[in-house]
Amino acid sequence: MTSYRFGIVGLSWITSEPAGEATHPVLGPAMPHTHLSGLARIPEAAVVAGCDISADARQLFIERWDTTWPGLVVFDDYKRMLAETELDIVCVATPDHLHGQIVMDAAAAGVKGIFCEKPISTHTDEVDEMIAALDAHNVVCSVNHTRRWNPTWVAAREALRTGAIGDFVTVTGRLGGERAMLWRNLSHVIDMMNYFVDADPEWVVGELQEGFEEYGLRYHGDGGRDAALEPGANAYVAWTNGVRGVLLGMKRAVASLQVDLIGSTGTIQVTDQSATMQLQTEQGLVSRPIVPRYSRIGMEAAIADLINAVATGAAPQSPPLDARRTVSIIDGILASQAAGNTRVPAP
Ligand SMILES: NC(=O)c1ccc[n+]([C@@H]2O[C@H](COP(=O)([O-])OP(=O)(O)OC[C@H]3O[C@@H](n4cnc5c(N)ncnc54)[C@H](O)[C@@H]3O)[C@@H](O)[C@H]2O)c1
Repeated sequence: MTSYRFGIVGLSWITSEPAGEATHPVLGPAMPHTHLSGLARIPEAAVVAGCDISADARQLFIERWDTTWPGLVVFDDYKRMLAETELDIVCVATPDHLHGQIVMDAAAAGVKGIFCEKPISTHTDEVDEMIAALDAHNVVCSVNHTRRWNPTWVAAREALRTGAIGDFVTVTGRLGGERAMLWRNLSHVIDMMNYFVDADPEWVVGELQEGFEEYGLRYHGDGGRDAALEPGANAYVAWTNGVRGVLLGMKRAVASLQVDLIGSTGTIQVTDQSATMQLQTEQGLVSRPIVPRYSRIGMEAAIADLINAVATGAAPQSPPLDARRTVSIIDGILASQAAGNTRVPAP
């Protein structure tokens, strides 16, 4: 069995928290929702190093994981980790605006794969630099838009692809609440819209929530911690394949995430709990549940997918060009707002 040596940059809860305790004598521990709890389920993954600028985070990483992977080495500077450790795959889980340079440096350092947290970057121009660096060094990258490995969302996409609701016409995505921040959490919803549409965004009309009218064209949040620094937004999006979409992401709305797919003969509604079809029949609209089929889920599936891509050359479920579409729509929303909420090209 080929073994892959992993290094982790950013050791907060999203990488380091263990999976939940077993609460049932037979069913086992909870689904892994963090990088390291997912890695711990993959026999060919060997974590060898971690990096964080916080000494507390480094300490907790060692306390939690050194028994699983004895001899872990920690660094406070990711460049030293890349220079002094032989790594096959690097996980990048620093704040939202600090992924780009680390991904590019890891690619140049000679790793084979990179698992980058979402959003891939806070600017489309930086995504293009990242993609150029990844291509130049022949590195596979996958972006952790989590729902792409969630069986409910995967099953909904398979139903759409097999024509269950006829021609795909429109998609709506919604999320409210304080954390409906454009880059931090609305990026999940926008990515799901892109996941279903599967084409490049062409143009956008956007509106940032009240209080952010003069936000401007460049991200200036703190990486995703302070919700008050990032706007919610509504938008109308046109994709090159003719599908049209509406994003409803004002923070004043209830914190509920849902995507609706509207086809010529039916609809599909997807949430994190379930997916349901409504099909037009001679008896009127009939509801049918969409049943998830896969058992390898969550972060374990996401990382196994990247390892498979590195080993076989297959495309991962969340490649950088797909992740770029989400950043492009976000930049389009900013540009539309700055131009008086008019229609603008998606960069
Ligand atoms: N996919 C998901 O569902 C999901 C969930 C949570 C977080 N995330 C993403 O994970 C990333 C991290 O989120 P967070 O809330 O843990 O952020 P955070 O602000 O807590 O930062 C993460 C860690 O990175 C460290 N760090 C900052 N700069 C660094 C540097 N230059 N070198 C090394 N370490 C550095 C911090 O000390 C911290 O421990 C974000 O991009 C976020 O969007 C994704």
